[in-house]
Amino acid sequence: MPKDPAWAKAMIHSTGLFAAVVDAAGQILFVNNEVASTCGCGADMLVGQSALDSILSSENFHQVVALLANPDGFRGPVQFEQTCLNNQKSTRIVAYVASPHIQDTGQAVAILTGFDVTDRAKITDALRRSEAQIRAIVETAVDAIITMNDRGFIESFNPAAERIFGYAAAEAIGQKVDMLMPEPYHSEHHHYVNNYLRTGHAKIIGVGREVTGLRKDGSTFPMYLAVGEQKAGDTRHFTGIVRDITERKRMEAEILHIAEREQRRIGQDLHDGLGQLLTGAAMVSKAIAQRLKKKSKVLAGETENLTALLNDAIAQTRRLARGLQPLDQADEFPTALEELGYQMESLLGVTCDVRADALPQSCSLLAATHLYRIAQEAMNNAVRHGQAKHLDISSQTLGSLVRLTIHDDGAGFSEPRGRGLGLRIMDYRARVIGGHLDIRSSPGSGTTVVCSVGGPEPNLETVHHADDSPAI
Ligand SMILES: Nc1ncnc2c1ncn2[C@@H]1O[C@H](COP(=O)(O)OP(=O)(O)OP(=O)(O)O)[C@@H](O)[C@H]1O
Ligand SMILES: [Mg+2]
Repeated sequence: MPKDPAWAKAMIHSTGLFAAVVDAAGQILFVNNEVASTCGCGADMLVGQSALDSILSSENFHQVVALLANPDGFRGPVQFEQTCLNNQKSTRIVAYVASPHIQDTGQAVAILTGFDVTDRAKITDALRRSEAQIRAIVETAVDAIITMNDRGFIESFNPAAERIFGYAAAEAIGQKVDMLMPEPYHSEHHHYVNNYLRTGHAKIIGVGREVTGLRKDGSTFPMYLAVGEQKAGDTRHFTGIVRDITERKRMEAEILHIAEREQRRIGQDLHDGLGQLLTGAAMVSKAIAQRLKKKSKVLAGETENLTALLNDAIAQTRRLARGLQPLDQADEFPTALEELGYQMESLLGVTCDVRADALPQSCSLLAATHLYRIAQEAMNNAVRHGQAKHLDISSQTLGSLVRLTIHDDGAGFSEPRGRGLGLRIMDYRARVIGGHLDIRSSPGSGTTVVCSVGGPEPNLETVHHADDSPAI
Protein backbone atom coordinates (compact mmCIF):
# COMPACT_ATOMS: atom_id res chain seq x y z
CA MET A 1 0.00 0.00 0.00
CA PRO A 2 1.36 3.48 -0.79
CA LYS A 3 2.05 5.45 2.37
CA ASP A 4 0.81 8.72 0.91
CA PRO A 5 -3.06 8.64 0.93
CA ALA A 6 -3.09 11.09 -2.02
CA TRP A 7 -1.35 8.47 -4.15
CA ALA A 8 -3.82 5.88 -3.08
CA LYS A 9 -6.70 8.20 -3.96
CA ALA A 10 -5.20 9.06 -7.34
CA MET A 11 -4.73 5.40 -8.04
CA ILE A 12 -8.29 4.56 -7.06
CA HIS A 13 -9.58 7.28 -9.39
CA SER A 14 -7.44 6.29 -12.36
CA THR A 15 -7.59 2.49 -12.53
CA GLY A 16 -10.62 2.44 -14.81
CA LEU A 17 -12.28 0.19 -12.25
CA PHE A 18 -15.41 1.20 -10.35
CA ALA A 19 -14.90 1.73 -6.61
CA ALA A 20 -17.30 2.81 -3.86
CA VAL A 21 -17.64 2.52 -0.09
CA VAL A 22 -21.10 2.30 1.49
CA ASP A 23 -21.96 2.19 5.19
CA ALA A 24 -24.42 -0.07 6.98
CA ALA A 25 -27.24 2.44 6.44
CA GLY A 26 -26.57 2.41 2.72
CA GLN A 27 -24.99 5.87 2.64
CA ILE A 28 -22.18 6.54 0.23
CA LEU A 29 -18.88 7.22 2.01
CA PHE A 30 -16.77 7.28 -1.13
CA VAL A 31 -17.06 6.81 -4.91
CA ASN A 32 -14.33 7.12 -7.51
CA ASN A 33 -14.66 9.13 -10.73
CA GLU A 34 -15.72 6.09 -12.71
CA VAL A 35 -18.78 5.54 -10.48
CA ALA A 36 -19.50 9.29 -10.40
CA SER A 37 -19.46 9.38 -14.21
CA THR A 38 -22.49 7.07 -14.23
CA CYS A 39 -24.43 9.66 -12.20
CA GLY A 40 -23.34 12.68 -14.23
CA CYS A 41 -21.91 14.55 -11.20
CA GLY A 42 -18.66 14.91 -9.30
CA ALA A 43 -17.55 12.17 -6.91
CA ASP A 44 -17.73 14.50 -3.89
CA MET A 45 -21.37 15.34 -4.56
CA LEU A 46 -22.39 11.72 -4.07
CA VAL A 47 -20.77 11.37 -0.67
CA GLY A 48 -23.43 11.38 2.04
CA GLN A 49 -26.24 10.42 -0.34
CA SER A 50 -28.02 7.09 -0.21
CA ALA A 51 -26.59 4.49 -2.60
CA LEU A 52 -30.17 3.49 -3.41
CA ASP A 53 -31.14 4.66 -6.89
CA SER A 54 -28.01 6.80 -7.21
CA ILE A 55 -25.42 4.13 -7.77
CA LEU A 56 -27.33 0.90 -6.97
CA SER A 57 -30.68 -0.53 -7.93
CA SER A 58 -33.03 -1.49 -5.13
CA GLU A 59 -32.18 -5.20 -5.40
CA ASN A 60 -28.42 -4.62 -5.34
CA PHE A 61 -28.71 -2.00 -2.60
CA HIS A 62 -30.49 -4.48 -0.33
CA GLN A 63 -27.88 -7.14 -0.97
CA VAL A 64 -25.15 -4.73 0.14
CA VAL A 65 -27.06 -3.57 3.22
CA ALA A 66 -27.82 -7.18 4.14
CA LEU A 67 -24.14 -8.00 3.86
CA LEU A 68 -23.35 -5.36 6.47
CA ALA A 69 -26.22 -6.32 8.76
CA ASN A 70 -24.22 -9.39 9.74
CA PRO A 71 -20.56 -8.86 8.80
CA ASP A 72 -19.45 -11.55 11.29
CA GLY A 73 -21.42 -14.17 9.40
CA PHE A 74 -19.69 -13.16 6.19
CA ARG A 75 -19.28 -16.13 3.90
CA GLY A 76 -17.69 -14.46 0.91
CA PRO A 77 -18.10 -11.40 -1.27
CA VAL A 78 -21.45 -10.60 -2.87
CA GLN A 79 -21.42 -10.36 -6.64
CA PHE A 80 -23.98 -8.62 -8.80
CA GLU A 81 -24.34 -6.72 -12.04
CA GLN A 82 -25.47 -3.11 -12.01
CA THR A 83 -26.93 -1.40 -15.06
CA CYS A 84 -26.18 2.30 -15.26
CA LEU A 85 -25.62 5.05 -17.79
CA ASN A 86 -22.37 6.52 -18.99
CA ASN A 87 -21.58 10.15 -19.81
CA GLN A 88 -23.16 9.72 -23.25
CA LYS A 89 -26.25 8.33 -21.56
CA SER A 90 -25.84 4.91 -23.06
CA THR A 91 -26.29 1.85 -20.93
CA ARG A 92 -23.29 0.32 -19.17
CA ILE A 93 -23.22 -2.85 -17.20
CA VAL A 94 -20.83 -3.06 -14.26
CA ALA A 95 -20.00 -6.33 -12.51
CA TYR A 96 -19.50 -5.51 -8.80
CA VAL A 97 -17.96 -7.43 -5.96
CA ALA A 98 -18.99 -6.14 -2.52
CA SER A 99 -16.94 -7.16 0.55
CA PRO A 100 -17.47 -6.03 4.16
CA HIS A 101 -14.68 -4.19 5.95
CA ILE A 102 -14.55 -3.42 9.68
CA GLN A 103 -13.17 0.07 10.25
CA ASP A 104 -10.96 1.12 13.19
CA THR A 105 -14.11 2.55 14.74
CA GLY A 106 -15.60 -0.94 14.69
CA GLN A 107 -18.21 0.06 12.11
CA ALA A 108 -18.71 -2.18 9.10
CA VAL A 109 -18.62 -0.72 5.63
CA ALA A 110 -19.01 -2.39 2.22
CA ILE A 111 -16.22 -1.95 -0.28
CA LEU A 112 -17.54 -2.21 -3.84
CA THR A 113 -15.20 -2.79 -6.74
CA GLY A 114 -16.45 -3.33 -10.24
CA PHE A 115 -15.49 -3.46 -13.86
CA ASP A 116 -17.31 -2.71 -17.07
CA VAL A 117 -18.80 -5.85 -18.68
CA THR A 118 -21.07 -4.04 -21.13
CA ASP A 119 -19.52 -5.69 -24.19
CA ARG A 120 -19.49 -9.14 -22.67
CA ALA A 121 -23.08 -8.71 -21.54
CA LYS A 122 -24.07 -7.51 -25.00
CA ILE A 123 -22.42 -10.52 -26.64
CA THR A 124 -24.01 -12.90 -24.17
CA ASP A 125 -27.35 -11.25 -24.72
CA ALA A 126 -26.97 -11.38 -28.50
CA LEU A 127 -25.94 -15.04 -28.29
CA ARG A 128 -28.89 -15.82 -26.07
CA ARG A 129 -31.25 -14.09 -28.46
CA SER A 130 -29.82 -15.71 -31.56
CA GLU A 131 -29.91 -19.10 -29.87
CA ALA A 132 -33.56 -18.54 -29.01
CA GLN A 133 -34.24 -17.54 -32.61
CA ILE A 134 -32.43 -20.56 -34.03
CA ARG A 135 -34.24 -22.81 -31.59
CA ALA A 136 -37.58 -21.36 -32.68
CA ILE A 137 -36.69 -21.88 -36.35
CA VAL A 138 -35.53 -25.45 -35.75
CA GLU A 139 -38.57 -26.27 -33.64
CA THR A 140 -41.07 -24.91 -36.15
CA ALA A 141 -39.30 -25.89 -39.40
CA VAL A 142 -41.26 -27.99 -41.87
CA ASP A 143 -38.04 -29.81 -42.79
CA ALA A 144 -36.38 -32.33 -40.56
CA ILE A 145 -33.19 -30.92 -39.04
CA ILE A 146 -30.84 -33.51 -37.60
CA THR A 147 -27.38 -32.92 -36.21
CA MET A 148 -24.78 -35.59 -35.68
CA ASN A 149 -21.17 -35.85 -34.59
CA ASP A 150 -18.30 -37.09 -36.71
CA ARG A 151 -18.88 -40.65 -35.52
CA GLY A 152 -22.37 -40.61 -36.93
CA PHE A 153 -24.29 -40.33 -33.66
CA ILE A 154 -27.42 -38.18 -33.66
CA GLU A 155 -27.15 -35.17 -31.36
CA SER A 156 -30.42 -33.39 -32.07
CA PHE A 157 -33.67 -34.28 -33.79
CA ASN A 158 -36.29 -31.58 -34.31
CA PRO A 159 -40.10 -32.03 -34.24
CA ALA A 160 -40.28 -32.22 -38.06
CA ALA A 161 -37.72 -35.07 -37.96
CA GLU A 162 -39.94 -36.84 -35.41
CA ARG A 163 -42.91 -36.40 -37.75
CA ILE A 164 -41.08 -37.46 -40.92
CA PHE A 165 -39.18 -40.46 -39.53
CA GLY A 166 -41.64 -41.52 -36.82
CA TYR A 167 -39.06 -41.58 -34.00
CA ALA A 168 -39.36 -39.45 -30.85
CA ALA A 169 -36.32 -37.21 -30.35
CA ALA A 170 -35.46 -39.12 -27.16
CA GLU A 171 -35.35 -42.38 -29.15
CA ALA A 172 -33.21 -40.98 -31.94
CA ILE A 173 -30.68 -38.92 -30.01
CA GLY A 174 -27.60 -40.98 -29.23
CA GLN A 175 -28.38 -43.50 -32.00
CA LYS A 176 -26.45 -43.85 -35.24
CA VAL A 177 -27.85 -41.77 -38.07
CA ASP A 178 -27.72 -44.80 -40.40
CA MET A 179 -30.90 -46.03 -38.75
CA LEU A 180 -32.67 -43.47 -40.96
CA MET A 181 -31.40 -45.10 -44.17
CA PRO A 182 -32.43 -48.30 -45.93
CA GLU A 183 -29.94 -50.86 -47.18
CA PRO A 184 -27.42 -50.69 -48.80
CA TYR A 185 -26.78 -47.15 -47.47
CA HIS A 186 -27.42 -48.29 -43.90
CA SER A 187 -24.41 -50.62 -43.96
CA GLU A 188 -22.25 -48.39 -46.10
CA HIS A 189 -22.82 -45.10 -44.32
CA HIS A 190 -19.88 -45.26 -41.95
CA HIS A 191 -17.55 -45.91 -44.93
CA TYR A 192 -18.82 -42.72 -46.54
CA VAL A 193 -18.28 -40.73 -43.34
CA ASN A 194 -14.80 -42.20 -42.74
CA ASN A 195 -13.86 -41.66 -46.34
CA TYR A 196 -14.93 -38.02 -46.12
CA LEU A 197 -13.10 -37.45 -42.84
CA ARG A 198 -9.95 -39.05 -44.29
CA THR A 199 -9.94 -37.53 -47.77
CA GLY A 200 -12.12 -34.43 -47.40
CA HIS A 201 -13.84 -35.54 -50.59
CA ALA A 202 -17.51 -34.76 -50.07
CA LYS A 203 -20.21 -36.49 -52.07
CA ILE A 204 -23.13 -34.79 -50.49
CA ILE A 205 -21.95 -32.01 -48.18
CA GLY A 206 -22.95 -28.67 -49.60
CA VAL A 207 -24.48 -30.37 -52.64
CA GLY A 208 -27.90 -31.67 -51.74
CA ARG A 209 -29.35 -34.83 -53.24
CA GLU A 210 -32.43 -36.89 -53.62
CA VAL A 211 -31.98 -40.03 -51.56
CA THR A 212 -34.15 -42.61 -49.83
CA GLY A 213 -35.12 -42.38 -46.18
CA LEU A 214 -36.26 -45.13 -43.79
CA ARG A 215 -39.06 -44.54 -41.30
CA LYS A 216 -39.38 -46.24 -37.93
CA ASP A 217 -42.18 -48.43 -39.31
CA GLY A 218 -39.79 -49.79 -41.96
CA SER A 219 -41.32 -47.92 -44.90
CA THR A 220 -39.08 -45.94 -47.23
CA PHE A 221 -39.70 -42.59 -48.85
CA PRO A 222 -37.92 -40.22 -51.25
CA MET A 223 -36.29 -37.28 -49.54
CA TYR A 224 -34.14 -34.32 -50.47
CA LEU A 225 -31.09 -34.18 -48.22
CA ALA A 226 -28.76 -31.22 -47.74
CA VAL A 227 -25.82 -31.60 -45.36
CA GLY A 228 -23.76 -28.85 -43.79
CA GLU A 229 -20.65 -29.16 -41.67
CA GLN A 230 -19.57 -27.16 -38.62
CA LYS A 231 -16.15 -27.33 -36.99
CA ALA A 232 -15.98 -26.75 -33.25
CA GLY A 233 -12.35 -26.92 -32.14
CA ASP A 234 -11.06 -30.33 -33.14
CA THR A 235 -14.46 -31.92 -33.57
CA ARG A 236 -16.79 -31.76 -36.51
CA HIS A 237 -20.53 -31.82 -36.51
CA PHE A 238 -22.90 -32.32 -39.40
CA THR A 239 -26.38 -30.94 -39.89
CA GLY A 240 -28.73 -32.72 -42.24
CA ILE A 241 -31.83 -30.99 -43.52
CA VAL A 242 -34.36 -33.43 -44.90
CA ARG A 243 -37.45 -32.70 -46.95
CA ASP A 244 -39.98 -35.43 -47.56
CA ILE A 245 -40.62 -35.24 -51.31
CA THR A 246 -43.07 -38.14 -51.59
CA GLU A 247 -45.89 -35.91 -52.75
CA ARG A 248 -43.73 -34.00 -55.23
CA LYS A 249 -42.48 -37.27 -56.70
CA ARG A 250 -45.98 -38.60 -56.98
CA MET A 251 -47.07 -35.46 -58.81
CA GLU A 252 -44.06 -35.56 -61.12
CA ALA A 253 -44.75 -39.19 -61.96
CA GLU A 254 -48.36 -38.31 -62.57
CA ILE A 255 -47.42 -35.44 -64.91
CA LEU A 256 -45.02 -37.66 -66.85
CA HIS A 257 -47.72 -40.30 -67.06
CA ILE A 258 -50.29 -37.78 -68.31
CA ALA A 259 -47.83 -36.36 -70.84
CA GLU A 260 -47.06 -39.86 -72.10
CA ARG A 261 -50.77 -40.67 -72.36
CA GLU A 262 -51.48 -37.41 -74.17
CA GLN A 263 -48.66 -38.07 -76.64
CA ARG A 264 -50.05 -41.52 -77.23
CA ARG A 265 -53.51 -40.08 -77.87
CA ILE A 266 -52.14 -37.53 -80.37
CA GLY A 267 -50.12 -40.30 -82.01
CA GLN A 268 -53.23 -42.46 -82.37
CA ASP A 269 -55.26 -39.54 -83.73
CA LEU A 270 -52.55 -38.81 -86.27
CA HIS A 271 -52.36 -42.43 -87.33
CA ASP A 272 -56.05 -43.25 -87.36
CA GLY A 273 -57.41 -39.82 -88.34
CA LEU A 274 -55.07 -37.86 -90.58
CA GLY A 275 -53.19 -40.98 -91.70
CA GLN A 276 -56.40 -42.71 -92.89
CA LEU A 277 -57.65 -39.55 -94.63
CA LEU A 278 -54.38 -39.16 -96.48
CA THR A 279 -54.40 -42.85 -97.42
CA GLY A 280 -57.91 -42.41 -98.83
CA ALA A 281 -56.86 -39.29 -100.75
CA ALA A 282 -53.80 -41.10 -102.16
CA MET A 283 -55.96 -43.98 -103.38
CA VAL A 284 -58.42 -41.61 -105.04
CA SER A 285 -55.66 -39.64 -106.76
CA LYS A 286 -54.05 -42.90 -107.93
CA ALA A 287 -57.35 -44.00 -109.45
CA ILE A 288 -57.81 -40.60 -111.14
CA ALA A 289 -54.29 -40.81 -112.55
CA GLN A 290 -55.11 -44.22 -114.02
CA ARG A 291 -58.23 -42.86 -115.67
CA LEU A 292 -56.50 -39.70 -116.95
CA LYS A 293 -53.74 -41.69 -118.63
CA LYS A 294 -55.89 -42.19 -121.75
CA LYS A 295 -57.17 -38.60 -121.87
CA SER A 296 -54.26 -36.39 -120.92
CA LYS A 297 -50.71 -37.54 -120.25
CA VAL A 298 -49.88 -34.15 -118.70
CA LEU A 299 -52.82 -34.24 -116.26
CA ALA A 300 -52.12 -37.89 -115.48
CA GLY A 301 -48.47 -37.04 -114.71
CA GLU A 302 -49.49 -34.20 -112.42
CA THR A 303 -51.97 -36.43 -110.62
CA GLU A 304 -49.22 -39.03 -110.13
CA ASN A 305 -47.10 -36.30 -108.61
CA LEU A 306 -50.01 -35.50 -106.31
CA THR A 307 -50.20 -39.18 -105.32
CA ALA A 308 -46.47 -39.21 -104.58
CA LEU A 309 -46.86 -36.11 -102.40
CA LEU A 310 -49.75 -37.71 -100.57
CA ASN A 311 -47.66 -40.86 -100.00
CA ASP A 312 -44.87 -38.71 -98.57
CA ALA A 313 -47.38 -37.05 -96.28
CA ILE A 314 -48.60 -40.51 -95.19
CA ALA A 315 -45.04 -41.63 -94.44
CA GLN A 316 -44.38 -38.44 -92.48
CA THR A 317 -47.60 -38.82 -90.51
CA ARG A 318 -46.62 -42.41 -89.70
CA ARG A 319 -43.19 -41.29 -88.52
CA LEU A 320 -44.76 -38.56 -86.39
CA ALA A 321 -47.28 -40.98 -84.94
CA ARG A 322 -44.46 -43.47 -84.24
CA GLY A 323 -42.42 -40.78 -82.50
CA LEU A 324 -45.33 -39.92 -80.28
CA GLN A 325 -46.30 -43.52 -79.69
CA PRO A 326 -43.22 -45.64 -80.23
CA LEU A 327 -44.76 -48.82 -78.77
CA ASP A 328 -48.22 -50.30 -78.82
CA GLN A 329 -47.27 -53.19 -76.56
CA ALA A 330 -44.40 -53.75 -74.14
CA ASP A 331 -43.28 -56.78 -76.16
CA GLU A 332 -42.56 -54.51 -79.14
CA PHE A 333 -39.63 -53.02 -77.24
CA PRO A 334 -36.80 -55.02 -78.91
CA THR A 335 -38.16 -54.31 -82.40
CA ALA A 336 -38.76 -50.64 -81.61
CA LEU A 337 -35.19 -50.33 -80.33
CA GLU A 338 -33.86 -51.91 -83.52
CA GLU A 339 -35.99 -49.55 -85.59
CA LEU A 340 -34.57 -46.66 -83.66
CA GLY A 341 -31.10 -47.92 -84.54
CA TYR A 342 -32.00 -48.09 -88.28
CA GLN A 343 -33.45 -44.60 -88.13
CA MET A 344 -30.28 -43.22 -86.56
CA GLU A 345 -28.21 -44.99 -89.22
CA SER A 346 -30.26 -43.72 -92.13
CA LEU A 347 -30.94 -40.20 -90.86
CA LEU A 348 -27.72 -39.39 -89.03
CA GLY A 349 -25.12 -41.54 -90.74
CA VAL A 350 -23.89 -43.41 -87.66
CA THR A 351 -23.56 -47.15 -87.29
CA CYS A 352 -25.61 -48.81 -84.56
CA ASP A 353 -25.34 -52.27 -83.01
CA VAL A 354 -28.61 -53.10 -81.30
CA ARG A 355 -29.06 -56.24 -79.21
CA ALA A 356 -32.27 -56.30 -77.25
CA ASP A 357 -33.77 -59.15 -75.22
CA ALA A 358 -37.51 -59.33 -74.71
CA LEU A 359 -38.54 -57.43 -71.58
CA PRO A 360 -39.78 -59.42 -68.56
CA GLN A 361 -43.45 -60.45 -68.71
CA SER A 362 -44.23 -58.15 -65.81
CA CYS A 363 -42.98 -55.07 -67.66
CA SER A 364 -45.78 -52.61 -68.40
CA LEU A 365 -46.21 -50.65 -71.63
CA LEU A 366 -45.46 -47.47 -69.68
CA ALA A 367 -42.18 -48.89 -68.31
CA ALA A 368 -41.19 -50.12 -71.79
CA THR A 369 -41.93 -46.64 -73.20
CA HIS A 370 -39.76 -45.00 -70.54
CA LEU A 371 -36.90 -47.37 -71.40
CA TYR A 372 -37.33 -46.57 -75.09
CA ARG A 373 -37.27 -42.83 -74.40
CA ILE A 374 -34.11 -43.19 -72.31
CA ALA A 375 -32.40 -45.00 -75.18
CA GLN A 376 -33.65 -42.39 -77.64
CA GLU A 377 -32.33 -39.44 -75.60
CA ALA A 378 -28.97 -41.13 -74.95
CA MET A 379 -28.58 -41.88 -78.68
CA ASN A 380 -29.54 -38.34 -79.67
CA ASN A 381 -27.06 -36.89 -77.16
CA ALA A 382 -24.32 -39.18 -78.48
CA VAL A 383 -24.71 -37.86 -82.00
CA ARG A 384 -25.57 -34.23 -81.17
CA HIS A 385 -22.99 -33.58 -78.49
CA GLY A 386 -20.43 -36.36 -78.83
CA GLN A 387 -20.34 -36.51 -82.67
CA ALA A 388 -20.27 -40.27 -82.18
CA LYS A 389 -19.70 -42.50 -85.20
CA HIS A 390 -20.78 -45.78 -83.63
CA LEU A 391 -23.37 -46.66 -80.99
CA ASP A 392 -23.74 -49.93 -79.07
CA ILE A 393 -27.20 -50.42 -77.64
CA SER A 394 -28.03 -53.43 -75.56
CA SER A 395 -30.97 -54.34 -73.40
CA GLN A 396 -30.34 -57.43 -71.28
CA THR A 397 -33.05 -59.21 -69.34
CA LEU A 398 -32.18 -61.52 -66.49
CA GLY A 399 -35.30 -62.79 -64.75
CA SER A 400 -37.05 -59.65 -63.62
CA LEU A 401 -33.95 -57.48 -64.06
CA VAL A 402 -33.35 -55.25 -67.06
CA ARG A 403 -30.15 -53.46 -67.90
CA LEU A 404 -30.28 -51.04 -70.80
CA THR A 405 -26.88 -49.80 -71.96
CA ILE A 406 -26.12 -47.16 -74.58
CA HIS A 407 -22.47 -46.75 -75.33
CA ASP A 408 -21.07 -44.24 -77.81
CA ASP A 409 -17.57 -43.70 -79.16
CA GLY A 410 -18.00 -39.91 -79.15
CA ALA A 411 -16.15 -37.06 -77.50
CA GLY A 412 -17.41 -37.75 -73.98
CA PHE A 413 -17.73 -35.01 -71.37
CA SER A 414 -16.65 -34.18 -67.87
CA GLU A 415 -19.31 -31.62 -67.02
CA PRO A 416 -22.61 -31.26 -68.84
CA ARG A 417 -22.81 -28.01 -70.78
CA GLY A 418 -25.90 -26.01 -71.49
CA ARG A 419 -29.20 -26.01 -69.72
CA GLY A 420 -30.71 -29.05 -71.36
CA LEU A 421 -33.22 -31.32 -69.70
CA GLY A 422 -32.38 -34.62 -71.36
CA LEU A 423 -30.12 -36.08 -68.65
CA ARG A 424 -32.51 -35.09 -65.90
CA ILE A 425 -35.52 -36.49 -67.68
CA MET A 426 -33.67 -39.76 -68.39
CA ASP A 427 -32.84 -40.00 -64.71
CA TYR A 428 -36.39 -39.22 -63.83
CA ARG A 429 -37.81 -41.82 -66.16
CA ALA A 430 -35.47 -44.43 -64.64
CA ARG A 431 -36.71 -43.61 -61.15
CA VAL A 432 -40.35 -43.59 -62.14
CA ILE A 433 -40.04 -47.23 -63.17
CA GLY A 434 -38.14 -48.05 -59.96
CA GLY A 435 -34.76 -48.07 -61.67
CA HIS A 436 -31.47 -46.30 -61.43
CA LEU A 437 -29.49 -44.37 -64.02
CA ASP A 438 -25.71 -44.15 -64.21
CA ILE A 439 -23.73 -42.17 -66.72
CA ARG A 440 -20.05 -42.78 -67.20
CA SER A 441 -18.20 -40.39 -69.40
CA SER A 442 -14.91 -38.64 -69.72
CA PRO A 443 -13.48 -36.51 -72.52
CA GLY A 444 -12.05 -38.70 -75.29
CA SER A 445 -13.52 -41.96 -73.96
CA GLY A 446 -17.08 -41.81 -75.14
CA THR A 447 -20.14 -42.07 -72.94
CA THR A 448 -21.97 -45.00 -71.40
CA VAL A 449 -25.49 -44.63 -70.08
CA VAL A 450 -26.84 -47.50 -68.04
CA CYS A 451 -30.38 -47.82 -66.81
CA SER A 452 -30.94 -50.72 -64.42
CA VAL A 453 -34.38 -51.71 -63.35
CA GLY A 454 -35.39 -54.24 -60.74
CA GLY A 455 -31.94 -55.25 -59.60
CA PRO A 456 -28.76 -54.16 -57.89
CA GLU A 457 -27.16 -51.03 -59.21
CA PRO A 458 -24.47 -51.43 -61.86
CA ASN A 459 -20.97 -51.44 -60.60
CA LEU A 460 -19.74 -48.53 -62.68
CA GLU A 461 -17.47 -45.77 -61.63
CA THR A 462 -19.71 -42.89 -62.36
CA VAL A 463 -18.97 -39.25 -62.85
CA HIS A 464 -22.57 -38.12 -62.89
CA HIS A 465 -24.66 -40.07 -60.48
CA ALA A 466 -28.23 -39.44 -61.31
CA ASP A 467 -29.04 -40.69 -57.85
CA ASP A 468 -26.53 -41.06 -55.11
CA SER A 469 -26.23 -42.63 -51.78
CA PRO A 470 -26.10 -40.24 -48.88
CA ALA A 471 -22.36 -39.92 -48.28
CA ILE A 472 -23.14 -38.37 -44.94
N1 LIG B 1 -23.23 -38.69 -75.15
C1 LIG B 1 -22.76 -37.45 -74.88
N2 LIG B 1 -21.55 -37.06 -75.39
C2 LIG B 1 -21.06 -35.82 -75.12
N3 LIG B 1 -21.67 -34.92 -74.33
C3 LIG B 1 -22.86 -35.27 -73.79
C4 LIG B 1 -23.46 -36.52 -74.02
N4 LIG B 1 -24.62 -36.58 -73.33
C5 LIG B 1 -24.74 -35.40 -72.70
N5 LIG B 1 -23.69 -34.59 -72.97
C6 LIG B 1 -23.43 -33.26 -72.39
O1 LIG B 1 -24.40 -33.04 -71.37
C7 LIG B 1 -25.16 -31.89 -71.67
C8 LIG B 1 -26.56 -32.07 -71.16
O2 LIG B 1 -27.26 -33.02 -71.92
P1 LIG B 1 -28.84 -33.00 -71.89
O3 LIG B 1 -29.34 -34.14 -72.69
O4 LIG B 1 -29.27 -32.90 -70.48
O5 LIG B 1 -29.20 -31.61 -72.57
P2 LIG B 1 -29.18 -31.21 -74.10
O6 LIG B 1 -29.02 -32.45 -74.94
O7 LIG B 1 -28.16 -30.15 -74.27
O8 LIG B 1 -30.62 -30.59 -74.29
P3 LIG B 1 -32.01 -31.40 -74.39
O9 LIG B 1 -31.73 -32.84 -74.12
O10 LIG B 1 -32.88 -30.77 -73.34
O11 LIG B 1 -32.50 -31.19 -75.78
C9 LIG B 1 -25.03 -31.69 -73.13
O12 LIG B 1 -25.22 -30.35 -73.50
C10 LIG B 1 -23.60 -32.15 -73.39
O13 LIG B 1 -22.68 -31.13 -73.01
MG1 LIG C 1 -30.20 -34.12 -74.72
